[in-house]
Amino acid sequence: MSAILSVEHVGVRFGGLVAIADLHFDVAQGEIVSLIGPNGAGKTTAFNVMTGFLKPSQGEVRFRGTSLKGLQPHEITRLGLARTFQRTSVFPDDTVFDNVMIGLHRQGAAGAPGIGRAPVLDALLGRAGASERRLRERAEALLDWVGLSARAQEKAGSLAYGEQRLVGVALALATEPAMLLLDEPVSGMNASETRVFVRLIRQIRERGVTLLLVEHDMPMVMEVSDRIVVLNYGRLIAEGPPDRIRTDPAVIEAYLGQGSAARRAAAEAQEAAHA
Ligand SMILES: Nc1ncnc2c1ncn2[C@@H]1O[C@H](COP(=O)(O)OP(=O)(O)OP(=O)(O)O)[C@@H](O)[C@H]1O
Ligand SMILES: [Mg+2]
Repeated sequence: MSAILSVEHVGVRFGGLVAIADLHFDVAQGEIVSLIGPNGAGKTTAFNVMTGFLKPSQGEVRFRGTSLKGLQPHEITRLGLARTFQRTSVFPDDTVFDNVMIGLHRQGAAGAPGIGRAPVLDALLGRAGASERRLRERAEALLDWVGLSARAQEKAGSLAYGEQRLVGVALALATEPAMLLLDEPVSGMNASETRVFVRLIRQIRERGVTLLLVEHDMPMVMEVSDRIVVLNYGRLIAEGPPDRIRTDPAVIEAYLGQGSAARRAAAEAQEAAHA
């Protein structure tokens, strides 16, 4: 298997708390992998390390053969690794379309591929209108891709929380990533929104983008993942295809030992197995 992303013995400490210990796994080019585990297991922390928001206490992450050690988030984005955040924030009083435009302008400032330099050149040549038009076309294409075209002129704050998350996905896709990390993308979505989102994930993969997702929705994880990596208290406790993970005693134990929400997730995983 040819790895696009390698997490190599990563450890993260916050003072005395070991948030991640010796985490080691690969994601192959073109795979859909889920990183799961009970609340506080270290999933978001792992994403923060992969995307340069956190420096690991130990180990390193390699992406397309390049060590990400010491790189800033925008430099990692430029290498083709994009993410969404667990808490998506939109500008609620601006339209969905304007939210995407604002995001595209910001990415231009941060040096995203193909966006940053052209407007300056256009401005120098007196073609500012052309570059703006390009951005608008790009925003329209992105909204179409994530299925928000019909809502483009509505205020972002009026969208359902699940739909607001799609704005974050559109902005991540705008960087033309080779790999996309999604942190709890379907939280706040109902069952039918989730089904639509699963289709979107598959379309994204069909366009050649590798996906790593953190998600608590077990039926969704079991349906969409090629492989699952399970964390508990910062440690990898299981790794394998969905069929193996949902019957893994260590995984069941990790979820059963937690609160009622996690117990429900474990029960749903079992149900999904029998569906
Ligand atoms: N900046 C920080 N400072 C101190 N502790 C932190 C920090 N970020 C995370 N932690 C702690 O590290 C552990 C892992 O947190 P993390 O957010 O990665 O969990 P998670 O698996 O994403 O959980 P959830 O499913 O609830 O989102 C938790 O104990 C958390 O309280
Ligand atoms: Mg998290």
